[in-house]
Amino acid sequence: MTDLKGLILSGGKGTRLRPITHTSAKQLVPVANKPVLFYGIEAMVQAGITEIGIIIAPETGDEIRESAGDGSRFGDAVGITYIPQAEPLGLAHAVLTAEPFLGDSPFVMYLGDNLLRDGIVTLTEAFKANAPEALILLTKVPDPEHYGVAELSDGRVVALAEKPAEPKTDLALVGVYMFNKSIFDAARAIKPSPRGELEITDAIQYLVDQGMNVEPHLVDGWWKDTGRLEDMLQANRLVLEDLETSVEGTLDNDSSVEGRVVIEPGAELVRSVVRGPAVIGAGTKLTDAYVGPYTAIDERVTVERAEIEYSIVLADSQISDLGARMEASLIGKHSRITRTDGMPRTFRLLVGDNCEISLV
Ligand code: TTP
Repeated sequence: MTDLKGLILSGGKGTRLRPITHTSAKQLVPVANKPVLFYGIEAMVQAGITEIGIIIAPETGDEIRESAGDGSRFGDAVGITYIPQAEPLGLAHAVLTAEPFLGDSPFVMYLGDNLLRDGIVTLTEAFKANAPEALILLTKVPDPEHYGVAELSDGRVVALAEKPAEPKTDLALVGVYMFNKSIFDAARAIKPSPRGELEITDAIQYLVDQGMNVEPHLVDGWWKDTGRLEDMLQANRLVLEDLETSVEGTLDNDSSVEGRVVIEPGAELVRSVVRGPAVIGAGTKLTDAYVGPYTAIDERVTVERAEIEYSIVLADSQISDLGARMEASLIGKHSRITRTDGMPRTFRLLVGDNCEISLV
């Protein structure tokens, strides 16, 4: 088999992660202080893939280009090609958009907001060894009606359905797929679904209907699609669970860290406690603060007289005097959250569209 290329889908609308996605790409939201997208790129590089195409949307494409660059930060031989998709017309449409880049090469397609704990090395090896038309990844889920669902018979895929009201199995499609060039004809042959998208499940179903070999693989480690807030927080927890301690920032005598904690260089703790697994970004300052398990605080954040747990805080935010512990929260870049002491006790809010705020 010729060398595999990589295709990462980082377009889309990201409606389920508004308001964060009003101003920024969901694929750049940091999980354990690293953009979700980078985990996919690294998984490809680890599997020996060096030619990577990234599908981008008009609104967020520039930001993605800026952050992933030409690929050299992921390895000397790695090259990234950006492929604009004018409208998010579906995963199979994204594949067709990338056809000039992919040419005749077999390829791995990776949804840019997905995370697979154990990477893709064993999967690319199976794909190269057996050379099926397609290889799909499956995992058992409790709520298959929210996913693409596969039906198997004798170890082969026989049917696929996109978010079926009455799923026939609990095997959900994970957002990583391997294809050879027959997927292009399949994507051209199908019609848009009722939600107006060219569905990758329909294209794969077309391959099955043509008698082609679609090989299923069950994933071993965890898999997360970070398209919703709850999933983003869970992905952050799962990645932080594998964290190795490294304290490079400064702690005063009244500060302490417990458990697996990363304090990046230039971070500063003053009379503060960080209980891991947690990561505190470079240039962040905690003063009279408590940061609890499964929290990732990005760079240049200030936290004063506040407690935060099971949350993600993006860069350059300021959080102070909350009066109660903040948890299960995702705070966007350059946000300010505070409480004033004066009377009357009032709220002062400057809130963007589609925000969610629960007050105690
Ligand atoms: P989804 O999460 O299914 O779609 P979305 O990003 O539009 O989000 P939402 O449902 O919240 O509105 O997409 C999975 C991944 O594929 C994600 O990284 C975006 C990307 N994508 C494209 O690049 N092009 C497309 O046409 C679509 C539909 C998605």
